[in-house]
Amino acid sequence: MRVLNFGSLNIDYVYQVDHFVQPGETMSAASLRVNCGGKGLNQSVALARAGVETWHAGCIGPKGSFLKERLDAAGVDTRFVRQVEGSSGHAIIQVDPKGQNCILLHDGANAQITEPFADEVLSCFGPGDVLLLQNETSCVGYLLARAAERGLRVALNAAPANGRLNDLPLERLTWLLVNEVEGAFLAGTEDPEEMARVLTRRCPDTTLVLTLGAQGALAALGEERVWMPARRVPVVDTTAAGDTFTGYFLRGAMEGRPLEETLGLATAASALAVGRAGAAASVPDYREAEAFFRGAKNA
Ligand code: RIB
Repeated sequence: MRVLNFGSLNIDYVYQVDHFVQPGETMSAASLRVNCGGKGLNQSVALARAGVETWHAGCIGPKGSFLKERLDAAGVDTRFVRQVEGSSGHAIIQVDPKGQNCILLHDGANAQITEPFADEVLSCFGPGDVLLLQNETSCVGYLLARAAERGLRVALNAAPANGRLNDLPLERLTWLLVNEVEGAFLAGTEDPEEMARVLTRRCPDTTLVLTLGAQGALAALGEERVWMPARRVPVVDTTAAGDTFTGYFLRGAMEGRPLEETLGLATAASALAVGRAGAAASVPDYREAEAFFRGAKNA
């Protein structure tokens, strides 16, 4: 079973700040780190570290070759990572002393995924394989529809929330993963139970996963609901915690594990990620995540 992640690749410029910069304010950051990131890249690293055979397809600019090397080092198949003209996608990330972040994105090369490129890659995949998408690239709707026609199961991490989500055939998804902001955007309500009701009515065959920060996570399929409390851990940097969750959730879901166990493993892995700085660099490996999950369960 393979996952094709047709996903974003970003250069992350991470600024440690006292507080997020305010309108009209100019301020100095305490430090700058340049990291590999992008929800797509982070999720491919998470899948590979979770032990899943992972292929990444996407676009980088001429100065983005270290992003591909990062995926290679994680054991991801990168034959479909293309170099194109123009700048790589990048993100300006502020991290405050509580480990919270805010992120400004520039799509760059992530916007250069075309329908012919999508068709070329998808022709190598079929039933039994899974396509993973985020809302940080071009062609998301096309990829979703073509992959479903070819018999792939499709997972979408609908992040970030913006108008591009409005036209997507979400009901064709096997898994839809959103945080509280994206869930509210799609469902028109901030109440998690209500979000689940609205979105499962719209997508009756899709497993919906809501990640809700300190409130934990909620999975919903039809009338079924599974709540998983958040793990209380010291927070260093929340960047890529959601991406870690997505990779580990898919590992459990693809294996057909019960929803509660799948959510528990994903929650444990993302709790480990928030205790470390960086995006892809913060993702734990499978043994560590599984031990943390089992340890807490038996405690
Ligand atoms: O989810 C975290 C990621 O969001 C960062 O790595 C940044 O690149 C943005 O895509």
